[in-house]
Amino acid sequence: MALLDGKRALVTGASAGLGAGVARELVARGARVLMSSRSTERIQAAAVKIAEEIKTSGPAPGTNVWQAPITLAADVTLPAAAATLAEAARKALGGLDILVCSAGGPPPGDFSELDDAQWEAAFRLIMLAPIRLIRTCLPLLRESGAGRIVLMSSVSGIRPVKRLLLSNALRPGLTGLARHLAGELAADRILINTIAPGYFDTERAREVQEAIARQAGREPIEIAEETWARIPLRRPGSPEELGRLVGFLASEENTFITGQTLVIDGGMTVAAE
Ligand SMILES: NC(=O)c1ccc[n+]([C@@H]2O[C@H](COP(=O)([O-])OP(=O)(O)OC[C@H]3O[C@@H](n4cnc5c(N)ncnc54)[C@H](OP(=O)(O)O)[C@@H]3O)[C@@H](O)[C@H]2O)c1
Repeated sequence: MALLDGKRALVTGASAGLGAGVARELVARGARVLMSSRSTERIQAAAVKIAEEIKTSGPAPGTNVWQAPITLAADVTLPAAAATLAEAARKALGGLDILVCSAGGPPPGDFSELDDAQWEAAFRLIMLAPIRLIRTCLPLLRESGAGRIVLMSSVSGIRPVKRLLLSNALRPGLTGLARHLAGELAADRILINTIAPGYFDTERAREVQEAIARQAGREPIEIAEETWARIPLRRPGSPEELGRLVGFLASEENTFITGQTLVIDGGMTVAAE
């Protein structure tokens, strides 16, 4: 297993779902993690939960020392958030080796339902938030000498998902950003990759299924079962499974993967229709 002993990591959108799964895995592998989300209460509760779980189950095999994560509330769609988080990483962790950008997803909707304000809000959430975080954290990642950036995207960036126009249109931008930056940042020995999750069992995924069910006048469980039927492994992924992928990409065992979008979807996007 790729260990992260003493690595310093910032994970945004970490109070729930995929971000929380990533934060847990990084802590278990020995990283010192600054977890962030908008709500102070939620992020503190998530950090306590992670520390309690690892106290009980033990860290990842081979990890001798691990530390409870620290937290700071910040809304990544606000212009000042990135600087606040980078400064907190510098002060509390002494620098930064790993940046993981996650947050919520945009609301579902088709073209006729979406106005300019919704498009702009989705751009701020999906594109501008990671752009600002990367820009502001770059000096720290350069100092690291082995910086790693992981951007949370979606399979909607690979192939459109029904009703998720904002995501379908904007996530490919993250792929382009990571591809471009892989070239620009290689000289600084910073590797950057994007994760494209399929369906994972998180609050966000349940909300999307409920919205689809409401619109179709059906039960969310029916929509869920139809979704799992389209996945060769016949189930949603777990945040732990995604955390393990990020744990590897963020480690120094990843020496040659950069600029890629890694799909983690139980085979959904390659399944024959
Ligand atoms: N779950 C899936 O199946 C799936 C599939 C493909 C892609 N994705 C994408 O992966 C990302 C994470 O999804 P998820 O399922 O883990 O979502 P989730 O369960 O809703 O969790 C979202 C996390 O982000 C935080 N957050 C939301 N808005 C934020 C903001 N403006 N600033 C800072 N933190 C913010 C939330 O905490 P607070 O409320 O405390 O801020 C929470 O910790 C999303 O972009 C989603 O679209 C998810």
